[in-house]
Amino acid sequence: CVSGTKGDPGINGPIGDPGPKGDPGQCPQVRDIFQGPPGETGLPGPVGAPGLPGENGQPGPRGLKGDQGVIGAPGTPGVMGQKGEHGIEGNCNCQNGTKGDTGLEGSKGNKGDVGVAGQQGNEGQKGQKGEQGDMGMMGIPGPCTPIVQSAFSVALTGSFPPPSQPVSFLKVIYNLQQHYNPTAGIYTAPINGTYVFSYNLVASTRALKVGLFWNFLPVVKTTQTTDLGTTSQQVVLHLSMGDWVWLQVRDSNSNGMFTNSEASSTFSGYLLNPDSCDMIMSREVSNPVIPDTFPWDDS
Ligand SMILES: *[C@@H]1O[C@H](CO)[C@@H](O)[C@H](O)[C@H]1NC(C)=O
Ligand SMILES: *[C@@H]1O[C@H](CO)[C@@H](O)[C@H](O)[C@H]1NC(C)=O
Repeated sequence: CVSGTKGDPGINGPIGDPGPKGDPGQCPQVRDIFQGPPGETGLPGPVGAPGLPGENGQPGPRGLKGDQGVIGAPGTPGVMGQKGEHGIEGNCNCQNGTKGDTGLEGSKGNKGDVGVAGQQGNEGQKGQKGEQGDMGMMGIPGPCTPIVQSAFSVALTGSFPPPSQPVSFLKVIYNLQQHYNPTAGIYTAPINGTYVFSYNLVASTRALKVGLFWNFLPVVKTTQTTDLGTTSQQVVLHLSMGDWVWLQVRDSNSNGMFTNSEASSTFSGYLLNPDSCDMIMSREVSNPVIPDTFPWDDS
């Protein structure tokens, strides 16, 4: 057993009770003051406050070796080791056998590749002429050649034309084929076909009622009452060769068809396409026979 270090002093105990009263003293006779003999030693004073702790002592000597510990749990198995080297070849005591019989014939092999083409042979003799083949089918029609052409564009030269008869547009703007007769005021169709007609007319001073006539009867009519207003119409007609087309005003109160140097009234028409592309001799249209008058109402 090793003894420990000395402990610190304990705390102060309580002060003890006062001792018994001493015997009465005897005053000296002499009044002179002198120093008496030293008194008895007083009681020991109270114990002082504990001192500061001392510095750490030197480390003690090394202890003895302890007892052996208990056996630990088994460890986890290690990884498999590498494959070892090849062993030495063993001795062979076998002897070569006798030669076997000849085997059976194998099956037939696959067909070989096609060989290279041979050289061209000589030209044969000329054969006999074959029989004539069947007739081919008819081809599609060719483009239509515009053999017959017809167009006109004319303008009014005098205002307020007379009613109940074709208005004659005397100023010719275009009339190459002469199918419009300016004096008669009548266009004559040169061939069976589809035609387009139009008019742009200025009205002034009085009302304008005008109709586009086809063979003596009006097809369309227009009315214009605004001074210097225009009226217009466009129609497509299928005409037979020799048909007549013209413009006509209603009466003397509604023939305000007008023209001056700043306002034109025009009438135009043209052949859109003929019914047939065959060559047809167009009819002579220079001087049509004009009846006297034509009724405004078509009923
Ligand atoms: C067996 O045959 C082999 C090859 O034919 C030859 O090299 C070898 O010497 C023979 N062994 C014996 C024991 O005949
Ligand atoms: C033109 O049309 C009329 C009737 O519309 C017809 O009788 C005549 O055969 C036609 N002419 C031609 C050449 O097609």
